[in-house]
Formats: sequence, structure tokens, C-alpha cells
Amino acid sequence: MAAMACGSSMVLGSIPCSAVATPSASGAGRTENAAITRSGFLGSASVGFYKTAAAQLLPQTRKSSQNVDYHRGQVVMTSEFEKTNPFADELRRTAAFISAPGKGILASDESNATTGKRLATVGLDNTEANRQAWRELLYSAPGLGDYISGTIMFEETLFQSSRAGVPFVDILKQQGILPGIKVDTGLQPIDGTDGETATQGLDGLAERCRRYYQQGARFAKWRAVIKVDSEKHPSSTAIMENAHGLARYAQICQANGLVPIVEPEVTLGDGDYSIERTAYISEKVNSHVFRFLNEYNVILEGILLKPNMILPGLDVPTPAPEEVAKYTVRTMLRSIPAAVPGIHFLSGGMSEEEATLNLNALQAYGPTPWSLTFSYGRALQSSTLKIWSGKEENWDAAQQRLVALAKANSEAQLGKYTGPHPSPGGTRILQQLRLGGAGK
Ligand code: 13P
Repeated sequence: MAAMACGSSMVLGSIPCSAVATPSASGAGRTENAAITRSGFLGSASVGFYKTAAAQLLPQTRKSSQNVDYHRGQVVMTSEFEKTNPFADELRRTAAFISAPGKGILASDESNATTGKRLATVGLDNTEANRQAWRELLYSAPGLGDYISGTIMFEETLFQSSRAGVPFVDILKQQGILPGIKVDTGLQPIDGTDGETATQGLDGLAERCRRYYQQGARFAKWRAVIKVDSEKHPSSTAIMENAHGLARYAQICQANGLVPIVEPEVTLGDGDYSIERTAYISEKVNSHVFRFLNEYNVILEGILLKPNMILPGLDVPTPAPEEVAKYTVRTMLRSIPAAVPGIHFLSGGMSEEEATLNLNALQAYGPTPWSLTFSYGRALQSSTLKIWSGKEENWDAAQQRLVALAKANSEAQLGKYTGPHPSPGGTRILQQLRLGGAGK
């Protein structure tokens, strides 16, 4: 299939080709040019000069062991899905853009119910106006785009505007941040299991993806939750069900131009199960997920993975970052194909500082084939929300906290974080662990 020219007409402007991945010493799927200019992002005329992701990623002529022929940037693929997908090159560019060095994702896709619980912690009612003001504070924080390449939104927010009437997607676009959308519709129990869940949302998903793309979204998220303990969980039923759901979701997203964030979350929970146990289960879960992604011909360069870091149960003392990093990188190396451009860890209840320190420690195990970076919700929002507390006079300070947290994690992504942390110490953010049900 002929490679799509950079700068093709897309609602939000196309991904700048300056963000397209090139092979580098630090691993395939990385971006040479971390500084993505705003004009580039907004679709400057210069983008047409650049080569396509496929051409830059691959040598001029190569026959891979997977029976895929590459020749002068023309990619001849064995999968009909990939061969006929008009978004194939755009998906690769989007994924490379989001996982560029020093960049990560702001996860702000809490459902209205969960947002309400978070707002309640600072005494705010769960009104649409309060949710809107809170998201405006996040998205309009000056300088956020220096560290954040994508933000995940809940459906209400994707279609919302600032209080002054500027659509959130435009505010993000001006920051150089790609809008993303949570597309799962929450968790339901799997019958006959002890509280294990299946993620809902495949019905009507293609049509919703088309609408979200029209509105400016370029990536999506689907969260699968895997319960772990020292012996019984997860069941093979839960692993199979969730791996299948993630794969079918990913295929539907790619068919409609959205890069799927594939999130198999082996969730941090009660108990004294060991870090080795989480490593073993996460490796198994990831491997099943990629087995199913392969079954559905999902284009691996056009996805992002959002897993948990490898942590023991909550009754075990918090491990040192080096310990977490050792097991996390080993697990990823054992189960994640090198074609995936970025692994964006969730913060999963870690304290804000713990999330940064662990991310920084991961980089010592590089170079790795993928970027090891963040897609944090609570670890970017918790102290930001506390500082704001709904008070106009705290607006600037809260935005500064968010940007300082994003900067610390950006440095950690580069393995250059030295502190001090903007939100030092702190305990696990457990009172805000997600409760399942209707979305996170
Ligand atoms: P946390 O970083 O709060 O775990 O949220 C990330 C996320 O989006 C999980 O779905």
C-alpha cells in the first residue's frame, strides 16, 4: 500500500511528521525530534517534506521473519486488515507522537461518577459546571504541552468547552496535546467467578469511534481489570475474556483511525501476595493479550500499552524503586513485542512521588525497544485538586502543581529525575482506588 503523505487532511490536523519514529540507539519507535513545534502539530506546510513512518522506521529493503516485505517505504503486508486500513500510517504516527521521549499522557477520563467522588474530597458537588471547571484547569495549564503529548477524556469532556466557550479539543491542540477518549463503558461481573470482571463497550463502538474522530480524538482507552491474589486469581476465564475484549476493541479503534491504548491492569489490591506473583501473572496476562491482538491483526506499531508496574499486594511493605523496576522491565521484556512504540504505565494508587521514582528507576534498564513512560491519573491530579479545592484564587497554584508533576515525570521518563519532588512523600492514593462499575 502506498504510504500516506504526512499532512493529510484530518479534522485536527495530522500528526507532525517531525514526530515520526526513527531507529535510534535508544530503541526503535523513538522520536528523533522531541521538541514538537506547535506549528508542526497544527499542520505547517513543511510536513510534506518528511518521509512516512514506515519509510523511516525500516531499512530500504528488508524481508522480515514474519513474511512481511518492505521496499522503499512501500509496505506489503500479509494482513488484509493492515493492507486495507486507510489509517495505517496515521496510526503509526499518532502512536510515535504520543510516546515521544520525555512525553507522557495525562489520564483525565474518570467517569462522571468517579469524578464526583474525587470532587467530593475537596468539598465540591458533582455538577457539570464543576467537572467542566476542573478539566479546564487541567487542560489550560500553561506549559503542560512541554511534558504531556496526549490526554484521555471522558465522553462528556471531549464535547465540552471552557467556561469562555473555547472547545477543549482546541485548547489541547494549542498546547500540542492530542485528545484521547475512554471508550469502554465499565465493568460487569463474570458469572461464577469471585468478583472478576469483564469490560463492556463493544456494542456500537465503531460508530462511536467515528464520532470521536470527527470531534478530534486520535486515540482511545479501554481498561481491563485483572484481580490478583496469592493463589486463586486471576482465573483463566477472566484472562481470556479480557484479552479478547482488548483485542476486538483495538481492532475496531484502528479501523476508525484511533490508536488504541490497550490497558490490561493487574490491579493493586489487598493481600500479601509477592512481587514475583504480580510479575508472573502480569507476564501471563500480557502474553495472552498479545496472542489475541495477533489473532485480530492489530497493527502493533499503532497501539500503546498501558500496564501496571509490578508491585506486591498492599499488605507487603512498599518495595524500593529498583526492585519495582527490575521486575517491571523483566516482565515487559518477556511479554511485549518490540514493535510497540510506548508502554505508558498507570499510577494505580502509588503516591505521586512513588510514581515518579519508579518511572525514573525503570530507565536504568534501558535501552529498551519501547519508551517506558506514563499515563497517570491520580499521580498527576491528586495534589493538584487539593490545591485548587474549587477556589478561583488557587487556580494558578493548582495549574503550577500539575505542570511541576508533569515535568518531574517527563524527567523520569528520560531517566534524569533528581528531585526534589513537587509533592514529596505521601501515602498511597488508596482512598481513591477505583470502585469498578460504571467506568473508572
Ligand atoms: P491512575 O494513574 O490513577 O491509575 O489512572 C490511570 C488510568 O487511566 C487507569 O485507567
